[in-house]
Amino acid sequence: MSSTLTPVLDPYALAKELSGKHLIGGKLVPAASGKTFDVVNPAKGEVVGQAAYGEAADVDAAVRAAAEAQKAWKMVPARERGRLVAECGRALTEHKEELARLIALETGKALRTESRVEANVLSDAFTFFGGLGGELKGETVPFNPKMLTMTVREPVGIVGAIIPWNVPMMLMALKIAPALVAGNGVVVKSAEEAPFCVLRACQIMAQVLPPGILNILSGYGPECGAPLVSHPKVGKITFTGSVETGKIVSRTAADRLIPVTLELGGKSPMIVMGDADLDQAVAGAIAGMRFTRQGQSCTAASRIFVHSSIHDQFVQALKAKVDAMVMGDPLDEKTDIGTIVSPDQFKKVKAYIDHGVTEGGTAHSCSAMPELEGLTKGLFVQPVIFTGLTNASRLAREEIFGPVTCVIKFDDYEDVIAQANDTEFGLAATIWTRDLRTALDATQRLEAGFVQVNQNLVVQPNLSYGGVKSSGLGKEATLEAMLEHFTHKKTIIINMA
Ligand code: NAI
Ligand code: MG
Repeated sequence: MSSTLTPVLDPYALAKELSGKHLIGGKLVPAASGKTFDVVNPAKGEVVGQAAYGEAADVDAAVRAAAEAQKAWKMVPARERGRLVAECGRALTEHKEELARLIALETGKALRTESRVEANVLSDAFTFFGGLGGELKGETVPFNPKMLTMTVREPVGIVGAIIPWNVPMMLMALKIAPALVAGNGVVVKSAEEAPFCVLRACQIMAQVLPPGILNILSGYGPECGAPLVSHPKVGKITFTGSVETGKIVSRTAADRLIPVTLELGGKSPMIVMGDADLDQAVAGAIAGMRFTRQGQSCTAASRIFVHSSIHDQFVQALKAKVDAMVMGDPLDEKTDIGTIVSPDQFKKVKAYIDHGVTEGGTAHSCSAMPELEGLTKGLFVQPVIFTGLTNASRLAREEIFGPVTCVIKFDDYEDVIAQANDTEFGLAATIWTRDLRTALDATQRLEAGFVQVNQNLVVQPNLSYGGVKSSGLGKEATLEAMLEHFTHKKTIIINMA
């Protein structure tokens, strides 16, 4: 066993055990103020624990711990750092079931269809980046025969990672694994809705890593996230979340002249041509829209453009498939679809559904609300497929982050490409067709960081991931991303004359 911690399969017990703690300097410690905030199981409306309420003093302690640890860490041979990061992946695998249950408890993501999937793929990011230590290479430059000129890759120092609640462990992994391999110290700020699973993941990794090189704080954005961005010792911020918060983070980083990477969500179009394989496209819409995650995905296929010749058939088939999905307690093995993460998100999603109806759209509600006792306070929302709305609707323009998609009828290919691109966002896009020329043309013309034909795979290591336009700044998940975002290039000249 690489981890000396024993897995705790009862998520309620684990939430209690982790209550009131940050991970700083390799140890679970309370907030400097001693304050906490409630963590709620959104399926039952019950408080399951209290997270440490991080503020500037905690940020300072974590950054100092990271800075102290980084002095030795940057001197560890790069491949050895990589070996330890890969070892973190193995340790997390030993704990994958407890992590899955914990994340289901605190976020409402269904255990079988979502939480376990996230916990299962977690180690992949650590294995991938763990193998890249030897790729932190520099160059020699033919500057002058009498001057040996070279570049070396150095760590930026301390990386602040601010993460959201929707896929917190995986999104955290894509930031911390490359940052650590590149020789940086890391301080993570978890999302207030999902502090425990990532804290546990970091506690597990702390069994493998030198104390203090990886720290994690829980807390709210303005009180805990903001001081991390403005801390003078933090040399880089990597952020995933909303456009609004991304802009705030960017402004502070600009004042400090430190680099930021931003992954900010989208309004991803899915174009279904008249010649598409209907079954394949419907399955792609289910996967792409992440109905099993209540649509809480930055790449959610929330605008589905369907050719008028198959529109009605498509809507019918999609509705039938979503109807067959079971909504229920996230921890129940039978459940396909769990809950929305928080009351704020719940209100936001409901308001969008009401708005769509006001605008004249037809809301096709799918599946059925769970009737089990104990779930009456749960934040369940029936998935909704809207028809009759246009691309000008607020529902087609704004990120809902809920189980709501708009199916929009089209006739003309040129027109649908224009509509797909007529959005503030540019994260992902798909096209479904049997015609190679149409497929190739669309891949070139769709304005998005990730374009797929006849499939809808999720983000994974070694595939560059990130958006254009308001969807973000900078790409993640690759060797190049590790080099660009977590190192800087130093030029060295040795005069031999
Ligand atoms: P958010 O962007 O406010 O939160 C993301 C992270 O930023 C959290 O850890 C939060 O505590 C932190 N944060 C908030 N304010 C901050 C500040 N001033 N300085 C530093 N850090 C700060 O997103 P939120 O409120 O959870 O969700 C709002 C909407 O954002 C969602 O409805 C969805 O549309 C979008 N979103 C997009 C995500 C994506 O994957 N791109 C993930 C989560 C939300
Ligand atoms: Mg917010």
